[in-house]
Amino acid sequence: MVQEKAKVLFNKKVGSSYFRIGLTCHNGYAKAKPGQFIMLHQPKQNTSLLPRPFSIHRLIITNGRIQGIELLFKVVGGCTEKLSKYRKGDYLDILGPLGRGFIIPDKYQRIFIVSGGIGVAPLFFLASSLRAKIADPSTCRLFIGGRSKHDILCLDDFSELDITISIATDDGSLGEKGLVTDLLETATKENPPDIICACGPFAMLGSVARIAERYAVPCQVSIETIMACGIGACLGCAVKGKKGLDKYLHVCVDGPVFDATALKIW
Ligand SMILES: Cc1cc2nc3c(=O)[nH]c(=O)nc-3n(C[C@H](O)[C@H](O)[C@H](O)COP(=O)(O)OP(=O)(O)OC[C@H]3O[C@@H](n4cnc5c(N)ncnc54)[C@H](O)[C@@H]3O)c2cc1C
Ligand code: FES
Repeated sequence: MVQEKAKVLFNKKVGSSYFRIGLTCHNGYAKAKPGQFIMLHQPKQNTSLLPRPFSIHRLIITNGRIQGIELLFKVVGGCTEKLSKYRKGDYLDILGPLGRGFIIPDKYQRIFIVSGGIGVAPLFFLASSLRAKIADPSTCRLFIGGRSKHDILCLDDFSELDITISIATDDGSLGEKGLVTDLLETATKENPPDIICACGPFAMLGSVARIAERYAVPCQVSIETIMACGIGACLGCAVKGKKGLDKYLHVCVDGPVFDATALKIW
């Protein structure tokens, strides 16, 4: 983990309220795991004293060398609004890579990846890492959901990975009308995968965890809490663990990716 000044390589709008920002980073990110995050602080902006957590969306690699990291973010408040105004050549403070990412067993037949809204941010890094290791695209299937077609991100990127993609939107403007978890349940019932990995809104993750439990499929979820420090110092990101395990877990150091059975939050 390193605190550094990161230079903005690009900052592009990719939808109504979504942006992709590229930042330079130190070489240690070459070992970053999908699901890990950074704490980002905007030194010159008078928005908040606290840094904000963002997942690593992808590594920017040129000629085999890591040049930076890309974040995918949604404008939801003061800090993300200011972040959307950063331009190439500006500087931000970043600390990372932080937390525990997804732990994928060496041998598996099939993985289901479930994304809701901006939860897609760490999941493209996950899917691309899996595909880089295993040539067969049928090992990995993506279920992606959002309120409308405007909230379904990274489809072109996922398509390049050649994996099966199932889409659901609340308003039916893209894919099936309804919940992405309904698509997940149908597919899991037909032919359960070896593992389910998910990131998205809290309610969606609860539903994914229950489906996984019903069909006895191991499940890892990446969860969000308010984070002030990102390194286990403020204890502000505590969530309840299951009975028999530690009573409280800290999302920044014990997560943000957890085995769904370790949590007592849904
Ligand atoms: C591990 C982790 C990874 C994340 N990765 C991404 C990502 O890749 N892309 C992305 O767009 N967002 C991500 N988030 C959420 C992102 O941190 C918040 O959207 C951001 O901090 C909001 O800041 P703001 O000042 O713009 O909004 P605020 O005005 O502060 O708040 C707007 C909303 O964001 C929530 N929020 C505020 N601060 C935090 C915080 N520190 N942690 C979590 N939620 C917060 C508030 O509860 C509120 O609902 C992640 C959060 C966590 C915990
Ligand atoms: S954010 Fe401070 S302990 Fe987790």
